Amino acid sequence: GIKRNEVNVLCIGLDNSGKSTMINQLKPSSAQSQDIAPTIGFSVERFSTTSLSFTVFDMSGQGRYRSLWEHYYRDAQAIIFVIDSVDKMRIVVAKEELDALIIHPDVKSKRIPILFFANKMDLPDSLSSVKVSQMMGLENIKSKPWHICASNALTGEGLKEGVDWLQGMLS
Ligand code: GTP
Repeated sequence: GIKRNEVNVLCIGLDNSGKSTMINQLKPSSAQSQDIAPTIGFSVERFSTTSLSFTVFDMSGQGRYRSLWEHYYRDAQAIIFVIDSVDKMRIVVAKEELDALIIHPDVKSKRIPILFFANKMDLPDSLSSVKVSQMMGLENIKSKPWHICASNALTGEGLKEGVDWLQGMLS
């Protein structure tokens, strides 16, 4: 087939943040593939669109599988970080994971764009993207371009704005 100039996008976030739902909105139905390793309880999914190649995994399990997911940092040329903007308690956990990501040796020195989705914006209890940004301490990220969008992964609202920003940063 045609060789694409693919960009490796890592899509991460805590469990239940909406990654799978979001990915289903982004994914062409022809590109579905699943690569799950149930024996170790860590799952990775990969798929491609015309210009982007996605790797998706959960940053859950109290870092139990960190040594496995870290392996994907090296090849990442962009990161999508999905946050459940209703789950206020666990935004603290998401922040810890973000902080660990930013200082990781395979991420620290690279000026890769990070796109945040404050997901589940449709729910009445959801925090605004500004509030999520404050709680996540995004203004402290100086070494990389970043952007945050409110999103509804169920309808796809907000996804295009985010992906357009990412494409712009990558081209
Ligand atoms: P894991 O599979 O545990 O890693 O979770 P995930 O991050 O892939 O989340 P998933 O896509 O499974 O979504 C978790 C739950 O949130 C599901 O019940 C979704 O239907 C729901 N959900 C995801 N995005 C949204 C959203 O934008 N709005 C609302 N209301 N619900 C959402």
